[in-house]
This record gives sequence, C-alpha cells and structure tokens, in this order.
Amino acid sequence: MSGAVDISGAKNAVVAILPAAILSDEPCRIENIPQIKDVTISLEILEALGARVTYIDRHTVEIDPTTLSTYKVDGELARKMRASYYFLGALLGKHGHSWVPMPGGCYLGARPINLHIKGFRALGADVVHLPPEVCEDDEIPQEENYVEIEAERLVGNSIYLDTVSVGATVNIMLASVRARGMTVIENAAKEPHIVDLANFLNMMGADVSGAGTDVIKIRGVPSLHAATYSVIPDQIEAGTYMAMAVATHGDVLVRNVIPKHLESITTKLEEMGALVEEMDDAVRVRCAGPLRACHIKTMPHPGFPTDMQPQAGVLLSMAEGTGVITEGVWDNRFCYVDELIRMGAQVTVENNMKATFTGVPSLKGTTVRATDLRAGAAMVIAGLAAEGVTEIEDIRYIERGYEDIIEKLTRLGATIELIEE
Ligand code: EPU
Repeated sequence: MSGAVDISGAKNAVVAILPAAILSDEPCRIENIPQIKDVTISLEILEALGARVTYIDRHTVEIDPTTLSTYKVDGELARKMRASYYFLGALLGKHGHSWVPMPGGCYLGARPINLHIKGFRALGADVVHLPPEVCEDDEIPQEENYVEIEAERLVGNSIYLDTVSVGATVNIMLASVRARGMTVIENAAKEPHIVDLANFLNMMGADVSGAGTDVIKIRGVPSLHAATYSVIPDQIEAGTYMAMAVATHGDVLVRNVIPKHLESITTKLEEMGALVEEMDDAVRVRCAGPLRACHIKTMPHPGFPTDMQPQAGVLLSMAEGTGVITEGVWDNRFCYVDELIRMGAQVTVENNMKATFTGVPSLKGTTVRATDLRAGAAMVIAGLAAEGVTEIEDIRYIERGYEDIIEKLTRLGATIELIEE
C-alpha cells in the first residue's frame, strides 16, 4: 500500500462529546465528526430525546439541547452500542434523572458498570433500578434490562476508581460538571479522549482540570453555554492504517494525527522493523525488510492500547520468530485468533490472557468473520497482506468505527469491495 490517508475524528471521543452537548443550555457545534455507525446512533438517540440535530456539513453537526423532552433513552437505539451509557451521566448531570437500557456493543468479556454506579452514588444519586446481572445482558428480560438513576441534587465528592475505567471516568465527569462543589476522580483514565471531553466541557464553561493525569478535578458550575469544538483525530484508526502499511511492506503517510497519541504504537511497530517518521500532524510508515517478533502487553493509556491488540496480532502472525501478546484490559479479546488460524497463522492462546504467535511466511486468503470492531480491522489487515482473496463477513462491526474504509483503502492501492447482501 502506498500514498496518503486522512484520519477521521476519534470514535471514542465523539461518543462522549455528543451526549455531553446535552449539558449545555445553548446549542453547540461539533466539528470533525466521523461518519460511522456509532455517531449515527448517538445522534438518533439525541433526536429521540427531543434535541434538535442539524448537519452543517458531512463532518459538522449542531446540537440544540434546549428542546429535550425526556430523560428516557430509546431501548432499540441504546442496545446498538456500548457508549449509549454515557447518556446516564449526561442526563443525570443536566436533569437529575436518567433511564438508559443496558447497552450493546462489542463483546470483549464481562463489561460491568459497577464503577459508574459507585460514582453516581458518591455524587448523591439514587439508583432506582439496576438489572440483576449487568454483565450478562442476554439472560435478563428486556423489560428489566435498564438503569434508572435519580438525584434531587448532585453534590461533588471524592471518588476512587478501583480499576482504571474510561467509561466510568467519562460518566462521572458528565454527572459532576454541574454538581454543587468539587468532585475529584482518583485513578482516572488518561486516554486522549478523556482530555478531549474535558476540553469540550471547559469550552462550554465547565471547570475541569487534571484530565490526562490520574487525578481529575471537576468544580461544579451552575450552567454551561454554547461552544464550537473540533474532535481529535482517532488514535486507533491511525494505528490501524499504520499497521496496514507495515503488513503490506508499504509506504503510507498517515495524515491528520497527533503523533504523541501514537507513541506506544509507533514503538512496537519500530520493534517489529518498521520505519516511522514523525511530522507535526502526520506520520510516514514504511517497512522494507522482514517483520520481527516482539512482546506486547496491553494497558490503559499511555500503555499499548487494547484496541490495537488484534491488529498487532496480525503483524506478529507474519513476523520472524515467536511473539507474545498479553491482554491486560479485557478478558475475551482473542476471538480473532481462530479466524487468523484459518488463514494459516500459528497461534496458541492461554486462559484468554496470553497469545503466542509463531510467525509464518505468509497468510492465505479465505472467508473469515469480524467478531468485533477491532477484530474486524485485524481481518482487513490480514486480508490485505494475505495471498489470494479474503472475504470478511459481519462487517457491520467495522462500520461502527472506521469511516470510509473502502474508499480510503482503495486510494492506498488495495483492492477492496463491499458486497451487499
Ligand atoms: N470495568 C469494571 N467496572 C466498571 C467499568 C469497567 O470493572 O464499572 C473494567 C472492565 O471490565 C475492563 C476495564 O475496567 O476490564 C476497562 O474498561 P473501561 O471502562 O475502560 O472500558 P469502556 O469504557 O467500556 C472504552 C472504549 C473501548 C476500549 C476501552 C479500554 C469507548 C466507547 N470504548 O470502553 O473501545 O477498549 O475503553 O480502552 O470509549 C473499541 O473502540 O473497540 C473499544 C472496545
């Protein structure tokens, strides 16, 4: 693959920023919005809540929350994606009441929300309803599978997160931004999208400091006002195109990125034999020689991101030597390995925590499945590098997070086609 690719706005930032717009008392304009399924669903949820959503252009949207008419999130929409639970914090923070069906999204193992709930309770909210087993939503009757939170008044508090959680950090920020007094989140997540959310909230008049460190302080303000905000570039989309360049021994300029956000990815790609040249807002990725195996452990930011783990696994499956990936965030993120093995990879997985890759000279195209969003991206990388044609099924997962992937890859020289069924 060769040429240049422009990275879109960050999925995991925008899915927090769109619900955050509810907190304002005036319309907000959000720029650099990626055209992906999770954005479409978030905007549909906002509209169903009564907000006015206007597309200014393909990547800019205006949200007027002053017409909001309910605190109940539509069940069918909520179940389509994980991040719908950010409406819990946003509606609670604005109206003191939220009702959100338990979200869907990628199955990566148990996805509890106990820390979100701990945070809401610490702010003085009552949990009116919580499903019996929030991590196994399939077994819960739909009419019971929702969370309802209410608060007469939210009051700032100190909250320690027992596990570093992106979702809990976001939800507590959303709920506390208009609370009375100071909230302190300790052991907070430090991902770039947490900083992006804090910047957006501050632009609306909030008082959030420390985002990007593990202590975030939120001094409550009585109201928030209009703002125009541009979403940061997607770290994981960028990393995925970087991995594609390496897998195909190509030369790709990945534009519209923040190179600092890519450091942990760059380091591992360089260990594998890639040449990564950093510019102000772009990285050029080349790989001339053979790939070399390395060891990777996924961790919360600034560690190697779990959302790049399957993509890295594809590279290790073709690298010389034996590589090991240890998954440190999710307990079921190796589903893609079975698909990779069907393409000729040699991989063993122990306890769903550790995968050992014995590199093979090449992968062989066949029919594989996208088992989740990043597993789907991994299959695209494997298909680009493999001999012959690869057909990927269940691409709805990929559509949740990669804008214009067919067009972007075609421009980089890939032969890729969407087959409608
Ligand atoms: N956890 C708890 N209790 C909680 C919340 C989380 O024990 O109340 C645990 C989880 O089980 C997990 C760990 O904490 O072991 C981290 O989970 P986190 O809450 O950070 O994950 P998340 O907010 O549900 C976000 C991203 C994921 C990404 C993770 C980790 C969004 C919408 N999703 O999920 O992104 O993998 O952080 O970085 O921001 C993806 O984009 O493909 C994706 C899955």
